[in-house]
Amino acid sequence: MGQILVTGGAGFIGSNFVHFVVEHTDHEITVLDKLTYAGNLESLKGLPSNRVRVVQGDIADGPVVEELVQSHDIVVHYAAESHNDNSLRDPRPFLDTNIIGTYTLIEAARKHNKRFHHISTDEVYGDLELDDPERFTESTPYNPSSPYSSTKAGSDLLVRAWVRSFGLQATISNCSNNYGPYQHVEKFIPRQITNILDGVRPKLYGGGLNVRDWIHANDHSSAVLAIVDRGRLGETYLIGADGERNNKDVVELILEHMGQSRDAYDHVVDRPGHDLRYAIDSTKLRTELGWRPEFSNFEVGIKDTIEWYRNNEQWWRPQKAQTEAKYKNQGQ
Ligand code: NAD
Ligand code: TYD
Repeated sequence: MGQILVTGGAGFIGSNFVHFVVEHTDHEITVLDKLTYAGNLESLKGLPSNRVRVVQGDIADGPVVEELVQSHDIVVHYAAESHNDNSLRDPRPFLDTNIIGTYTLIEAARKHNKRFHHISTDEVYGDLELDDPERFTESTPYNPSSPYSSTKAGSDLLVRAWVRSFGLQATISNCSNNYGPYQHVEKFIPRQITNILDGVRPKLYGGGLNVRDWIHANDHSSAVLAIVDRGRLGETYLIGADGERNNKDVVELILEHMGQSRDAYDHVVDRPGHDLRYAIDSTKLRTELGWRPEFSNFEVGIKDTIEWYRNNEQWWRPQKAQTEAKYKNQGQ
């Protein structure tokens, strides 16, 4: 049994990992989370208090980080400013958390010789043409587009440098777009589901032909646990579940499952610098670590996700009005 420090454990994917670890292992967990607008303790409810504790704090706060890192066996680092649209409005928090926060954590992990796993995104690789036969692999050059993806790329490069120069015992994973319960209503899929529940038409940026490679958050968690358990130190693993779909198809699927006409959506102003397509080749993870996704049926996953938002309005309602007000300001 080990002691895991999970940063950002009150967010969408971090909280999924905490639930996953409690269910599938004997590890004990401390969540370090600043509880920004994106953090929600409700996402951790029902977990046993003898196995999960929460510390509210900033990953860029050196003394807090050092004390926690020192007293745990491994750090699994999810905390980030995570939304592209926010990064275009106000980049500064992305530098503070994604760059300085990651730096603060790896310095503590280096000093105390702790195992470190860094969670990142496929967006560090930039985008692909719609008809490109290649997908992202671990050796694709970095080419990020937005303040969000460039600060995530910067954080990955810091971890790589700390591995090479200081022998940090780290692994990195870059995952594709996640969906599932507990995702903030600013993100594409929950925004459209909760708009429809509110009687508002879904909003597609631009032509809606941009492709994302969707993976259920539970499959991301099982992959991270496999890497933490059996990944080779110093290595990067791409996580993806062969889930490429364009945004228009996703909106039409959601509308259909919610009993609406498939064309009951609006096109709105496009995102500046909007990446066209992401696609992951996860051969390395599958062959080296034997990982397989469980949620291979996207339609079933979307149906379950719609049901979750229908049944958990008290979880998302407090965030909805202020999120939509921000979008309205930019014509989206
Ligand atoms: P999220 O925005 O839902 O959650 C982020 C969490 O980090 C929140 O609980 C927030 O309070 C916390 N946090 C933010 N700044 C902090 C700080 N300075 N100190 C401590 N805690 C802080 O994000 P998410 O979608 O769950 O993403 C989690 C991680 O996964 C991120 O590193 C993101 O880059 C990565 N990722 C996300 C996706 C996706 O589809 N959402 C895909 C691949 C990788
Ligand atoms: P998002 O969930 O913000 O994830 P990311 O930018 O990390 O891929 O957006 C997913 C896709 O959906 C992206 O192509 C932008 C698009 N999108 C819309 O068309 N409408 C929306 O209201 C939002 C929030 C996103």
